[in-house]
Amino acid sequence: MNQSELIKMYDFTGRTVAITGGAGVLCGAMAEALVSCGANVAILDREPEKAQPIIDRMAGPGRAVAFYTDVLKPEVLRKNLDEILAEFGGFDYLINGAGGNSPGATTRPDQTFFDIPESALRFVFDLNMLGTIFPCQVFGKRMAELGDGVILNVSSMSAFRPLTRVLGYSAAKAGISNFTQWLSVHLAQEYSKRLRVNAIAPGFLVTDQNRNLLLDASTGALTPRGQSIIDHTPMGRFGDPEDLLGTVLWLLSPASSFVTGAVIPIDGGFAAFAGV
Ligand SMILES: NC(=O)c1ccc[n+]([C@@H]2O[C@H](COP(=O)([O-])OP(=O)(O)OC[C@H]3O[C@@H](n4cnc5c(N)ncnc54)[C@H](O)[C@@H]3O)[C@@H](O)[C@H]2O)c1
Repeated sequence: MNQSELIKMYDFTGRTVAITGGAGVLCGAMAEALVSCGANVAILDREPEKAQPIIDRMAGPGRAVAFYTDVLKPEVLRKNLDEILAEFGGFDYLINGAGGNSPGATTRPDQTFFDIPESALRFVFDLNMLGTIFPCQVFGKRMAELGDGVILNVSSMSAFRPLTRVLGYSAAKAGISNFTQWLSVHLAQEYSKRLRVNAIAPGFLVTDQNRNLLLDASTGALTPRGQSIIDHTPMGRFGDPEDLLGTVLWLLSPASSFVTGAVIPIDGGFAAFAGV
């Protein structure tokens, strides 16, 4: 393969990507990167207005449009598919980025494991687990009909080794890793060898969801938990959203055409480090 053929693998011109949670910190960065590579991007988010500053920053050559969705409502997702086909004329890739933790689904000094409320557990399992499975049903069906497409799920380091205190999120993300493997086998065996399903497992990135856990709000210094994470990260730093982008583009592109059912850590070596 020559240089221009290799570079062309990362040219997404004429390809359409739906990103759930696309108005968020990490998936907004993915949307920007994909537009830079020529893609049409449908930002699907429960708060689509948050996508406007992201869209304003984009300089093409692709373009992005934001749509309201709720990943827990299949009927809304089916409407989204119609909206995407009307807007862009096709649909090729799905990134399942909507997800997150709930403080209620963790243990704390004032909340033991035995007291974690059912509502908090249901919230975090539904958002992460069903919020990934439902879009795969709706958008994956279209991919199965076409016999082509790629799904990228967002797992977490906490799926490999559950983080202390973080019960619901860790278990739900472990479910996403497991589901990623299951769906990759199912789609390849039952529908098409050109259907691929993978996941990224980001390590520790400072974002709105975890800033207070990692950094002291008043001084910006590392919290004891933040320091412990840095001590267990061979690369000695938290990640940036940009650290995810090369892996995301690779997993969507034909450069990873023989990769399916993989959960790729992007963690500065955290998962590999035994701690001694
Ligand atoms: N931040 C990290 O360090 C980290 C690490 C590992 C994995 N992750 C995962 O990466 C993904 C993105 O994380 P982030 O930090 O960018 O979060 P974020 O909160 O910035 O973005 C999440 C987005 O999802 C949207 N959303 C929430 N519920 C929704 C629903 N029901 N339907 C549609 N959209 C909904 C929110 O409006 C938000 O824009 C999540 O799955 C998260 O669990 C994050």
